[in-house]
Amino acid sequence: MIDGLSHHLPLFELPDQRRFASRTMRPRALVPGTVTRKGHATHRSGCATTGRPICLGGGQFADCLSRSKERKLFGMKAKKQSSRNSGVVAQKQDRNSSEFEAKSGQRKLSGQTLHGLHGLGPQTKAIHGGEPNRCGVNGPVATEIIRSSTFTFSNTEEMKEWAEGKNKAYIYTRYGNPTLSVAEKKIAALEGAEAAVVSASGMAAISSSLLAVLHSGDELISTAQLYGGTYRLMRDVFPNMGITVHHVQPDLCGIEKRVNARTKALYIETPTNPTLRLVDTEKAIEFAKKHKLVALIDNTFATPVLQNPIRLGYDMVVHSATKALAGHSDIIAGVSVGSQEWMDKVRQMIIYLGGSMDPGAAYLLIRGIKTVGVRVERQCENATAVATFLEKHPKVERVHYPGLKSHPSHELAKKQMRGFGSMLAFDMKGGLPAARRFCDRVRLFLLAASLGGVESLVILPIYSSHYNMSDEELKRAGVSPGTVRVSMGLEDKEDLIEDLKQALE
Ligand SMILES: Cc1ncc(COP(=O)(O)O)c(C=O)c1O
Repeated sequence: MIDGLSHHLPLFELPDQRRFASRTMRPRALVPGTVTRKGHATHRSGCATTGRPICLGGGQFADCLSRSKERKLFGMKAKKQSSRNSGVVAQKQDRNSSEFEAKSGQRKLSGQTLHGLHGLGPQTKAIHGGEPNRCGVNGPVATEIIRSSTFTFSNTEEMKEWAEGKNKAYIYTRYGNPTLSVAEKKIAALEGAEAAVVSASGMAAISSSLLAVLHSGDELISTAQLYGGTYRLMRDVFPNMGITVHHVQPDLCGIEKRVNARTKALYIETPTNPTLRLVDTEKAIEFAKKHKLVALIDNTFATPVLQNPIRLGYDMVVHSATKALAGHSDIIAGVSVGSQEWMDKVRQMIIYLGGSMDPGAAYLLIRGIKTVGVRVERQCENATAVATFLEKHPKVERVHYPGLKSHPSHELAKKQMRGFGSMLAFDMKGGLPAARRFCDRVRLFLLAASLGGVESLVILPIYSSHYNMSDEELKRAGVSPGTVRVSMGLEDKEDLIEDLKQALE
């Protein structure tokens, strides 16, 4: 039986939101900074590679391309808004600007202010967050792709200042790019974080985030039930770098025994892949804080729609943006989210290791994020229907879906998530042969790896995410050979259930 969360915590509605007054619904004025050929007095301090400016002008990024003497750059230190900025002018600015810039001059927006003061809902943030100025005649509504590997400077003085970290101009797309910046600000807004760094894949985000924290001699504590690629990175690569990894079960049992003076970070994934166990996010962050560990969490399965760990105090959230964020199975992408300070470090790793995102992928990511709320809502609905059907089927041994009362993490899911998610798994009674037969017979469900797209998918974890693992490792990861993982898409649930029926016959 499904115990719906909608009575508990309504999907898409954070407890502190929906305090909309018509005035606060409208994004407030965001005053662009001004950069001239002569100097960069308006730039804010910090790492030269973060807080990328976004050029404003007739088009979204049009001034980036102009040769005018005075270029207006978004995200540079803003001019103070004068008290005369009221009436028509203020209203115009209200209409023309975005409040989602992670930082702009006087207004440093933290998760707190994004949600508390501005009171905008997550779907509004997904659509308008991070977008540059869109107004006036002939302005494109969709985000422009700045398909350029490199960017001009007006003179060598500007370049010198960039090299000295005194301005934050775009120089080269591996360091940052206006289209990437939109994606970063949008995801930071959605997660309630100060900043984000997009990357070429989820694994680029995970490896760059972990390497921003860990050095030779350091130790990491991680949950054992992880995406296989993350687990293999910890098993096959980190030991060669002098980094020791200790694994604990999702219930964190015995975790205190794993910590010592060399432990630097805690890494968790919840819900876990593929059996959808939950890690208690409050318990985990309490442990991390107690031992002064950097806390990282893979939020791919939950999505920012269903949980926002930054608000609990996690230092970094990572995503395979390939999945629900992009949502259409057409790009490989990743993102790390957190404080500006941590994101500066992650960006440095992306720059060193080269895992930067392509602007075309950033465009598709931005487009996908705009509908993530409605997609995840529908996927949760479909997953609930399919899990309920499978649970009653005589050929199914067990269904792993946190929305089912029979799932060991059901109560925890109700407590810490705003929906039960789009992923489920089930064990066939006949083990691997029965699971293979089922996967070979589905017609509407596609037999494919990955998740979070509009198409429903099935996969055998032992032949995909959890390949190249010993029986012992599979047992620890909670994977049995007869486990089938299902990623729910957006099709009609009646059609999906019909397909399951015929495949299970
Ligand atoms: C939970 C989770 N994290 C990270 C990744 C890695 O992401 P990517 O394939 O985009 O590198 C995956 C991929 O399936 C995943 O499922």
